[in-house]
Parts: sequence; C-alpha cells; structure tokens
Amino acid sequence: MAYPPRVAFIVIACIFLVYVPDLISGQIRYSIPEEMEQGAFVGNIAQDLGLNVQQLTARKFRLSSDDGGRYMKVGLDNGLLSIRERIDRERICGQEGMCTIPFEITLENPLEVHRGKLEVLDINDNSPTFRDSTIALQMSEAITPGVRYRLESAEDPDIGINTVAAYALSSSEYFSLITQRTEDGLIIAQLRLDKSMDRELQSSFQLVLTATDGGNPERSGTAQILVTVLDFNDNSPVFEHEVYRSSLPENVPKGTFVMKVKANDLDEGPNAELTYSFSDLTLRRVQDLFSLVPDTGEIRVEGSLDFEEASSYSLDIQAVDHGSPAFTGHSKVLIKVTDMNDNAPEIKVKSTTNKIPENAPPGTIIALINIMDRDSGENGQVRCEVPQNYPFRLHPSSNHFKLVTSETLDREAISEYKIPVSAWDLGYPSLSTNKTIQIAITDINDNAPRFPERSYNIYVTENNAPGVSIFAVTASDPDLDQNSSVSYSFQNSYIQNMPVSTYLSINSMNGTIYALRSFDYEELKTFQIHVHARDAGVPPMSSSTTVNVIILDQNDNAPVIVSPSAQSGSAAVEIVPQSVGQGYLVTKIMATDADSGQNARLFYQMMKATDRSLFTVGQHSGEIRTARNILESDPTTQTLVILVKDNGQPSLSSTVTVDITFLQNSTERVAESSNLVKNPEYFSDVNLYLIIIFSCTSIVFLVIIVLLIGIKCKQDRNITQDYISPSYCYKRGDVQDTFIRRPAMEETLRYPGTGRVVRAPELQQYSVCLSPESAKSDFLFLKPCGAPASQAQC
Ligand SMILES: *[C@@H]1O[C@H](CO)[C@@H](O)[C@H](O)[C@H]1NC(C)=O
Ligand SMILES: *[C@@H]1O[C@H](CO)[C@@H](O)[C@H](O)[C@H]1NC(C)=O
Ligand SMILES: *[C@@H]1O[C@H](CO)[C@@H](O)[C@H](O)[C@H]1NC(C)=O
Repeated sequence: MAYPPRVAFIVIACIFLVYVPDLISGQIRYSIPEEMEQGAFVGNIAQDLGLNVQQLTARKFRLSSDDGGRYMKVGLDNGLLSIRERIDRERICGQEGMCTIPFEITLENPLEVHRGKLEVLDINDNSPTFRDSTIALQMSEAITPGVRYRLESAEDPDIGINTVAAYALSSSEYFSLITQRTEDGLIIAQLRLDKSMDRELQSSFQLVLTATDGGNPERSGTAQILVTVLDFNDNSPVFEHEVYRSSLPENVPKGTFVMKVKANDLDEGPNAELTYSFSDLTLRRVQDLFSLVPDTGEIRVEGSLDFEEASSYSLDIQAVDHGSPAFTGHSKVLIKVTDMNDNAPEIKVKSTTNKIPENAPPGTIIALINIMDRDSGENGQVRCEVPQNYPFRLHPSSNHFKLVTSETLDREAISEYKIPVSAWDLGYPSLSTNKTIQIAITDINDNAPRFPERSYNIYVTENNAPGVSIFAVTASDPDLDQNSSVSYSFQNSYIQNMPVSTYLSINSMNGTIYALRSFDYEELKTFQIHVHARDAGVPPMSSSTTVNVIILDQNDNAPVIVSPSAQSGSAAVEIVPQSVGQGYLVTKIMATDADSGQNARLFYQMMKATDRSLFTVGQHSGEIRTARNILESDPTTQTLVILVKDNGQPSLSSTVTVDITFLQNSTERVAESSNLVKNPEYFSDVNLYLIIIFSCTSIVFLVIIVLLIGIKCKQDRNITQDYISPSYCYKRGDVQDTFIRRPAMEETLRYPGTGRVVRAPELQQYSVCLSPESAKSDFLFLKPCGAPASQAQC
C-alpha cells in the first residue's frame, strides 16, 4: 500500500508529539529520521527533563550509555541533544519496523539517571536492488501461454513505504508481469508467458525488470531477465530426398558403398541428433542385405545381391532424433540391381523314356528339355544344341525343346547313346551347361541269322563211320537274346529219293552236322543240302545256306578188266597174223576203276611174258603192240600177264592173261582191223556221246531261257517277283564258281574217258540240273534253282 509522502510526514509528526508526554513516565523518547547530519538537533533534553541549563556542567550531565553516546551528544552549555554520528537505520535495525537506540542521561549531585530512547525513523535512502543483475530463465518452447515464473524479488532495506513498492517489465509481446502482495506486505513478481514461443524463430528474450519503492522521491533498481528458450523436440527430422535412388550390379562384394542418406532436424541438441535405421516397413530379408550406419546414414551392401532373386530393393529408412519424445522422419531408398551373367543355363530333362526301340521312326520324341537361364536380357538368352554327328535333333516347341530322333536307329550298330546336350547363353562371357541324356536302344528282331558264307563245300571221305560229325555251320544274329538265339534245321529235300534226314542230322542248337550213314563215293559223289537258321524272335527271322557235300573217293575199288573179255577162268585169246611188222596193235587192254581220280588212273604193265622182247604194253594206253617183227622161230602162242593197277594209295591192281596166237595169211583182214583201231579215240562211242550231251545241254538251256523270258513277258506286271527269284542267278553262279574252283572236280573232268566210259548207259539219267539224282555224273550242269529236276530234260 503506497502512502503519499505528505501524509506519511504528518503521521510521523503526530507520533513525535504523542511521544513527548512520555517524560511523565520517566522515559524520554525522541524521534529523528535517519541519516541526519552530524550535529543535527535531536531534542532539548535539559528542558525536557526540567533541568537548569546552568547546572548542567556542575551536575556532570552526560550520556552514559554507549549506544546512545555513539550516535548522539549533549551540549552542556545548552542541554541540547544532537547527532554525533550519522545514523543508518538499516544498519542498526535492519528491517525492524521500530528502530530505537536506547540512551541514559546521568546527572550527579544528586545522582539522577534518566532513560530515553531515540527512535530512528526511516527515510528512503535505499534503492531496490536485485541480487543478480541478470536473471537467467530457461523456458521450454513448448510451454503453453499462461504459465508463470516467479521472479526474484528486489531488495530494499528501507522499510515501510520506502521499501519495494512496485515492479515493472519492459514491454514484450510474449511476456507480462504479474505482482501480488502477500499478507506481510511483500510483493511477489511473476513473469507470465502470454504467447507461445518458437525457439526456431527466436531462441532468447531480454527483458528488463524494474523495481521501484514507494519513497519520495522514489528509487528504483533494475535487473535483466534473460529468457533462454529451450528447444522442445517439435521438429521431425526431414530427409533431403523423399526417395533416394541408386543402382548397382549384382554380386558386388560385401561392404560395397551404396549411398549416404541425410536428414535434417531444425531442433537443436539432442533433438537434432539423428540416428538412422531401417523402419519396420523394410522387409527383414532386405535388412539383412544392406547395412545402414546409424550415425552417418551410410548404406552398404551386407549380403549378396542376386538379380535373379530381386531386381530392386526398397528400403524404408527412418531418422530418429534423440528428443523425448523422439520424432521420426522417413524416406525411401530404391536400389536397382543390374544383371550380370552369373547364371549358367539350366537344362531340365523330362524324359519320356530312357529307351526306345531301334525301329522307332525318325521324329520319335525321346525327351522334353526345358532350358532356362535365370539371368535376363542377353544373359538369359539361351541357345542349345546336340552335336551333328548324333542322330538326334532338338526341335523348339512352345517353351521347351523336343529331343527327337532324326534317323532310324540301329541297335546292332550303337546300342546306347549318351547324347550331349549343350546350352549356352549370349552373355559375355557366355556361360554354358552340358548335360548328357542317356538312351538305350532296345532290340527289335530285325536281323536274320546270317551264315558267313552263302554256300559251303564240305568234303567227306567215303566209307566214313556213321554218326560222325562232318561239319558245323554257324549263323550269327546280331540281335539280342532270343532275337539272336539261332536254331538250325535242314530244309526238306531228297537225296536219291530219300529224305535228307536219312543221310544227315543237324544239332539244332549249334549247327553240327552228323553223317548218319557211311557214304559210298561210287554211289553218291555229291549232294546239296540247305541248312535253315532261324532265330527265336517273334516273328522269327531266318536264312539259309547251301552245303555241298562232296564225297571224296577212297581207293576201295580195284581195276576191273573189261576187254579183252576172258571166259571165266581162262585167258583171253587174240589172234595175230604172223606177217605184221613192228608196232602192230595186238589188242588194247581196257580196264575200269570205280574209283576216281588217281584212284582210277590206271597203269598197265607186263608182268609175265613168254618172250618179253616181242610185245610192249602202253603204260597208259594199255595197248599191246608188237615190239619187233614176228619171226618164224617165235612160238605161235605167246602168253602175256598184264598187271593193271590204279594210282591210289595203296594201289589196287588186277591182272589179265592174254594168249596171243600167230596166224598166217590173214593180212587183209588184219590190215582193215588195224586201220580201224589206229586212232580209236576219234570216233569212239564216248566222243559221240559227249557231243550229243553237249548239244542237248545247249539246246535245253536255250529252250529254258527262251521259255522263261516268254513267260515273264506274258505275266501280268503284278505277278510276284518270286517267280524269278533273285536267287536264280545267284545260286547258279554260285554252283558254277564252286565247281570250277574245285581241283578234285577238275581232275575228274580232265579224265572223262578213262574209267568212266563204261558207264555210258547211265548217261540217260543225267539231267541239266545239279540235283542229288544227277550227282553220279562227272558232268555238272546247271539248272534254275527251285525248278523241279523233272522239268529239265535232255
Ligand atoms: C560344354 O561343352 C562345350 C563343348 O564341348 C564346352 O566348350 C564347354 O566348356 C562345356 N561346358 C561346361 C560347363 O562343361
Ligand atoms: C526281340 O524283338 C521283339 C520285336 O521284334 C521285341 O519286342 C523284343 O523285346 C526283343 N527281345 C529282346 C530280348 O530284346
Ligand atoms: C554241339 O553240341 C554237341 C552236343 O552238345 C557237342 O557234342 C558238339 O561238340 C557241339 N559242337 C560245337 C561246334 O560246339
């Protein structure tokens, strides 16, 4: 409560007057304002005590108390109390409302003691002061208007109205001052925030607080109020870019720097300190691939980037400041991964089968091949191939390749293929993959058993033991298992009107041929059988071969003398005119040998003679001729024993005894007969027959050929080809070849006239066909195969 100074003065004056009557109670009381000049008048104490001024000195009038004596003095001459020393009420009494200085007046003669009090009245001699000239306040920018801050009170040692009476604040749109007086009169100043602050706009305020007292003149003191606006975390971090983009090739090494992100926060201090991290929106696996340095915002590659797994990554990143509560800023990082050719093509085979039959037609699908390359672009474009030298091709089909056969396969040539399929991409460098597809070729019974020769000549010496194995044929079949298991049999045919099975047997398993009987060369010289080989496939396949069995002669027949014929038991008789000269052909020994070849080659020699000088025997011809002229003296009957022996080993022989009688006068007849026999071969029966046979043969041949050509021409075109089987020409040539090659046969042919002529009547059996029936003949003729023997006639 402020009192106007004038009123205060009057009040003090009244108090002053009121205290004067205190004298009555023996207490003297004076009031003076503090800070009076030295010597200033306090009161006329002598008068107030009713003392005589003249007596004062005598009665040793004095101030006896120390306190009073210190500040006041009494004038002995006038009895006036005055200021000795300037009195500072605040120093003596502080803030006490009543400040009195007690004093004692002592008088002697008689001793009188008077007590008094000097009341020191306050004057406004002090200005309000603040303890600190600067009041520092820190306020969060977040506080709401209306909040008050108690300000430090100013101090003024004066009391009453002289003490602090009011505060004032320099003008500010943000702050105002509110003062309150407490019950004990103290004024409390509060700073009130009128408007919310924004540190980011203005971070501090300077105000001046003025405290004034109520004295007259009033005094004041000021203090600076420095309001520091404390940052409140009211700003979110903001990234420099909403989206960061980067691109890097796949497979970059771990630790590769990708980019650095940066966010700014307008706040300060911890509120602006940022920590970078991936936000929850970033997939876990992506977080594993990249690292984000929390302090610097550096993004590095942490895992292995695979373009084929993901061609781009989106990282949601956040920056969190260290305020409380913290604010977060978000951004996005898009990382594009570029493809490198790091994947080789993959070959996936969907085999339909791992084996195909060899007769599968070209184009048969073996497998479906899927070729993939996980790379993209050129790196993912794939070419593939199967080497040209394999009978397989790749055909592109919608999204895969078909592996098909390109030719017919032959298991017998290659039974299994390992097909290399190679695929490569167009990247640089190109990557390739190879795969082998294994395919087994299964067997089809497509091969007939095959004999190594079209025909065989086997030689069996006659007189063989029955049951002996004479030959073995083997046919091979390149097929598999039962398709190649061959069994042998004879084709039904006849040898000399007997089924072949009566002559020979064959082991059906291994083709061993056994003779069932003993052969006689003289009966059967050669015959032909057809061996049939058949595999066990379904259906079976077969082939046959021809086996020419040639019986070899053994010297088992002795020569037989045919002429001159001798009556049984006696010698042949020849009559020779005595007049013949040297060289006369007496007779010719004719002998045959059922054997052939050397076994039938006969030699004649004279074993015994009456006169060895008279006759000679042609060693080869068997001719007995005179060796010299017959003399009168020679005995008329001569006996010769001629040995005929063959050339076999051992040789067999026969003898003939010829009795020769010389006769006179029979010259003419003898000459005739000698002419006739001079060159017996010229017109021999044998030669005649030979000519006839050759002519017949030629004619028959011509007729057959003409017939065949004629028939063929008349045939419809659709007649079966079998009629003239290709084997026709084949077999004919074969037989011919065979026999021209045989030395034994050549020999036989070379000696047609020796032992064979005697069998001339049998020539009617000869046919042009080389059939078993004709086998007796030394002359071998050809007939079309398959044509019955009866067709061929002579
Ligand atoms: C595949 O085969 C090709 C040709 O033979 C060869 O050049 C390539 O190196 C092979 N690739 C692999 C992966 O073996
Ligand atoms: C034999 O060939 C037939 C077809 O001709 C075939 O079905 C069979 O599987 C073959 N046998 C073997 C053992 O390969
Ligand atoms: C054929 O089989 C028979 C009987 O098993 C045997 O005696 C013969 O020696 C065999 N022949 C061949 C050529 O294996």
